[in-house]
Amino acid sequence: MAFPVLLVYSLITIFALSTADISNRQITKVLYPDCERYTSCQKLRDQNATAPNVSFPNVAYIKAAAGEDVLHFVLTTIGFPSVLVVHTEGDANAAVQFDWDSLLGAADNGSLVNNTDISGAITVNHTVNYSFAVVFSRLIEYYDAGDTSDLKAAENNKDTLWHFINFTEFQWMNVTFGQDGKSVVFNTSRPQPLPFENNTAGFITFEFEINGDGGRDTDLPRLIYNFNNTQLNFALDKYIPMFNKSRFALEMSVVANVSTSGMKVEQVKSIDDEYSPGVFKVMNWYTGTEDQSGYIQYKPVCYLDPHRERAVGIEVRSYDLQEPKMVPGLKKLMEKSIAKAFYGSSLNDTSLEQMASNVSFGLSGDGFYVKKNYTVWTVSIGYGKAPVETISTMVIIIIAAGLGIPVVIILFGGIYVCFRRRRGGYQRIDNDDVPNPHPAHPNVN
Ligand SMILES: *[C@@H]1O[C@H](CO)[C@@H](O)[C@H](O)[C@H]1NC(C)=O
Ligand SMILES: *[C@@H]1O[C@H](CO)[C@@H](O)[C@H](O)[C@H]1NC(C)=O
Ligand SMILES: *[C@@H]1O[C@H](CO)[C@@H](O)[C@H](O)[C@H]1NC(C)=O
Ligand SMILES: *[C@@H]1O[C@H](CO)[C@@H](O)[C@H](O)[C@H]1NC(C)=O
Ligand SMILES: *[C@@H]1O[C@H](CO)[C@@H](O)[C@H](O)[C@H]1NC(C)=O
Ligand SMILES: *[C@@H]1O[C@H](CO)[C@@H](O)[C@H](O)[C@H]1NC(C)=O
Ligand SMILES: *[C@@H]1O[C@H](CO)[C@@H](O)[C@H](O)[C@H]1NC(C)=O
Ligand SMILES: *[C@@H]1O[C@H](CO)[C@@H](O)[C@H](O)[C@H]1NC(C)=O
Ligand SMILES: *[C@@H]1O[C@H](CO)[C@@H](O)[C@H](O)[C@H]1NC(C)=O
Ligand SMILES: *[C@@H]1O[C@H](CO)[C@@H](O)[C@H](O)[C@H]1NC(C)=O
Ligand SMILES: *[C@@H]1O[C@H](CO)[C@@H](O)[C@H](O)[C@H]1NC(C)=O
Repeated sequence: MAFPVLLVYSLITIFALSTADISNRQITKVLYPDCERYTSCQKLRDQNATAPNVSFPNVAYIKAAAGEDVLHFVLTTIGFPSVLVVHTEGDANAAVQFDWDSLLGAADNGSLVNNTDISGAITVNHTVNYSFAVVFSRLIEYYDAGDTSDLKAAENNKDTLWHFINFTEFQWMNVTFGQDGKSVVFNTSRPQPLPFENNTAGFITFEFEINGDGGRDTDLPRLIYNFNNTQLNFALDKYIPMFNKSRFALEMSVVANVSTSGMKVEQVKSIDDEYSPGVFKVMNWYTGTEDQSGYIQYKPVCYLDPHRERAVGIEVRSYDLQEPKMVPGLKKLMEKSIAKAFYGSSLNDTSLEQMASNVSFGLSGDGFYVKKNYTVWTVSIGYGKAPVETISTMVIIIIAAGLGIPVVIILFGGIYVCFRRRRGGYQRIDNDDVPNPHPAHPNVN
């Protein structure tokens, strides 16, 4: 019996392997792509990093190629910390190209303070199969008077104080590689947006991990990664809050190149919290439709210590998707984003789908941000279908043991009882009740 089963299994495996087109991607990372051709870029890339108020126009271009199937990731802090994901097919050499003069606009600090049109600053020299951009537009700080840790409740509380910070206002250190070259790190430099009594504390970092293969992150909440996504760690590290009851939220705006309205947030529940203890949900924000999509995936948890463990994990709350035009100020901000640089004037018509939403960090009663002065949140941004949490073999064994053994006992117990009864148990009942008139006597020799 075992041999045919094994054979069929091997055949299925071989079949699956031979039909799976892509199993990994070749990763190439370039910082400041095309910079050599632009003095505007070189001037800022090579500026004095220790000068006051310095900010670098960071761009990292990551090409993840599987033959002619190429995923292009553009990670940047220009305008806003953001990610552009472009999928091309049919040419291994397809590339994203950067017009730095236009990207930096007329602003001489590279932060796009001037209202120049950056349309067309980022292009691809091949037909685009699918693309989308995720722009982190605002850091929302609020005095959570009611300690509800809920933006909607805070909006309805007259004692709430708000401090909206456009991400355009931050100054960035020069981009670096982290985790032995596996990640790209964008870190704010001093000073942060005012008011601050001095310039000594606090960092906001966006660290993007890129993998050419699949696996599970070693850090909680141990999200699944693959060669079609990047994992972002967003951290507020000793960031000096405005208020003694401050909480933070992050506003994200997504632009995708499909006109069909498919964007939605899906909440997937799991019975298995083996990888992220206490967390039974995964959120998937799909940027497109069934056949063509990107996604933003996260678990509703963030951590209050760089050493992540269950005890310092608190809630991340999600909110409804909003059309950017319904959010005051947001459309105007998007004009300074790489979404504008890539999609140009389409950003203002209906050929693209655009949605925005917030995630907020904190749990009522947790002592607010100042309790730890640290928050880190991980989110995957990728092309295709979001990774699906599967129940691990270990958990299957435990469930099997927990449920299976009693079932097996009941089943076999039942069969045994039936069997005994069928074999004349009824007749024997009488025999058992009535003393055997002919007891078997042991043979005594
Ligand atoms: C900034 O980073 C780039 C890429 O690593 C490097 O070429 C450049 O020299 C750095 N600039 C400074 C001022 O260190
Ligand atoms: C740095 O920028 C802040 C505001 O952005 C300004 O008030 C301050 O004067 C600047 N400092 C220097 C040394 O330029
Ligand atoms: C696209 O750009 C890349 C890199 O600059 C180049 O190698 C490739 O030949 C270009 N492809 C086309 C079709 O122009
Ligand atoms: C761009 O903005 C800076 C600072 O706001 C200003 O000094 C400069 O003149 C502006 N340049 C143009 C071309 O408007
Ligand atoms: C950001 O920069 C500060 C100062 O150099 C450093 O202490 C911190 O570790 C950096 N954060 C990350 C995630 O690299
Ligand atoms: C700078 O800020 C830190 C943290 O808030 C504080 O401990 C320190 O006293 C300040 N230093 C000065 C000179 O204001
Ligand atoms: C990655 O994307 C390719 C299409 O470019 C698709 O064939 C493949 O199944 C995807 N793999 C995963 C793990 O999402
Ligand atoms: C916290 O801030 C509020 C509003 O600014 C103030 O009324 C209150 O006294 C502060 N509490 C503490 C403990 O500092
Ligand atoms: C943030 O951006 C909005 C435009 O959406 C602008 O009206 C506002 O003045 C900006 N805030 C700051 C502090 O620059
Ligand atoms: C994010 O939250 C703030 C504060 O509640 C709100 O004003 C803003 O409209 C929200 N943004 C989105 C995209 O929902
Ligand atoms: C967090 O920073 C605030 C000042 O911004 C300080 O008062 C508080 O003690 C800090 N908390 C911890 C745990 O260090």
